[in-house]
Amino acid sequence: MPNNHIQIFDTTLRDGEQVPGCQLNTDEKIEVALALEALGVDVMEVGFPISSPGDFHSVNKIAQIIKNTTVCALSRAVPKDIEVAAQALKGAARPRIHTGIGTSDSHIYDKLKSTREKVIERGVAAVKYAKSFVEDVEFYAEDAGRTDNEFLAKVIEAAIAAGATVVNIPDTTGYCLPWQYGEKIKFLKENVKGIENATISTHCHNDLGLATANSIAGVVNGAGQIECTINGIGERAGNASLEEVVMIMRQHKEMMHDTRINTRCLKATSELVSSKMRMPVQPNKAIVGSNAFAHSSGIHQDGVIKKRETYEIIDPNEVGVNESSIVLTARSGRAALNYRAKKLGFNVTREDMEGYYQEFLHIADEKKVVQDEDLISLFSQTEVKSA
Ligand code: KIV
Ligand code: ZN
Repeated sequence: MPNNHIQIFDTTLRDGEQVPGCQLNTDEKIEVALALEALGVDVMEVGFPISSPGDFHSVNKIAQIIKNTTVCALSRAVPKDIEVAAQALKGAARPRIHTGIGTSDSHIYDKLKSTREKVIERGVAAVKYAKSFVEDVEFYAEDAGRTDNEFLAKVIEAAIAAGATVVNIPDTTGYCLPWQYGEKIKFLKENVKGIENATISTHCHNDLGLATANSIAGVVNGAGQIECTINGIGERAGNASLEEVVMIMRQHKEMMHDTRINTRCLKATSELVSSKMRMPVQPNKAIVGSNAFAHSSGIHQDGVIKKRETYEIIDPNEVGVNESSIVLTARSGRAALNYRAKKLGFNVTREDMEGYYQEFLHIADEKKVVQDEDLISLFSQTEVKSA
C-alpha cells in the first residue's frame, strides 16, 4: 500500500513570526521562505497582510519569488482583511487565503460578543468572498480544540459548502489531550457532509507540551495536513515542531504516512530560523537541538561506539547533522577516551590508558567538558602516573 502523503503547512513566517522579538524584515523573510521551499514544505503561510504595511510588502515579495510552493496569507473573517490578503498574494503561482473565525463559546460570547448563528454566517461569507479572489481557500475554526464537536461539525460543513478547500481545526490554546484531539478529527470525518471534498488540517499549540502528539493523533484519525513551525516557535509555548512531526512519520513507517520534506535540510533550516529570529534552540530539543545526537555517559558512549543504533533511533546524516558526538565529561568511560585518542591520532596502549584516564577524570571534574586541546596536551605527556 503506498504511503498517504501528508501536506506540511509551515507557519514559521506567520504564527512563528508573531513571537515578541522574532519579527523579520522583508529580506530576512525572503531568505527563510527560500529555505522552506528547498526544504520541501507544501504550503508556507508567510504573513497577515492587513496587520502592517511591512507585512503586506513581505507577503507580496515572497508571492512573486516562490514558484514551487503554495504561498498563503492570513485574514480574519473581515472583508477588508480578505481584500488586502488577495492583493498581497497577487502574482503568486499558487496563492491560498486562510480565513476564519472563533467557534468556541468563549470566543463567540466573550471575544466576538456574537451568537453561534452569526458566526456561521460570517464564516460562510468570508469563504465565499475569498473564493472570489483565489481558488484555494482554507477556513480556520479558531479555538476548535475547545469547541463543542456537534457545533464544530456544523461550522465546518457550512465552510466546505461555501467552497473551502482545506478546513483547519486549531487547538488554539493547546488544551486538548491527544485522544481528545484525535476523536475530534474522527468525529468531523464521520459527521460532516462533504468532508471528502476538503483536506482536514491540524494546527496545534504547545501550552501543555502536546502539540506534536496532538498533530500526530489528528493525522492518525484522518487529517491530511499539519500546520507547524521550524523549531516549534509560535504564540506562547509555540506550535507543533515541523522537524518532530516529519521525523515521527519518517521513522514510523508502519503509520503509512509520509511527507515530501527533504529531511537533510532540517538542521540548516533550524539554524537559519534560530539566528534570523534571535531565538536560541534548547540543547535538548528533539532532532535539531545541539544535544540531540550527543552522548555523554560512559554506558551510552560505549554502546554508541560499538554500534550507533544502540542509543540512536535516527541517523544524524538523515537530518543534516554530520555525525553523532561523544562529549567527554567526568561521566565518560575509558572506551570513549580511547575512541577520542584514536581520532586525534594517538595510539595509546592499554597499560598507559589507565594512567591517562585517571588524569582525564581530574581535568573533567575541573573543566566539566574536556576539549580536544586538553586531550592533546594530556596524550602528549610521556610520563603518566599509573592508577
Ligand atoms: O492558533 C490559531 O488558532 C491560529 C489561527 C489564526 C489559525 O493561529
Ligand atoms: Zn496558531
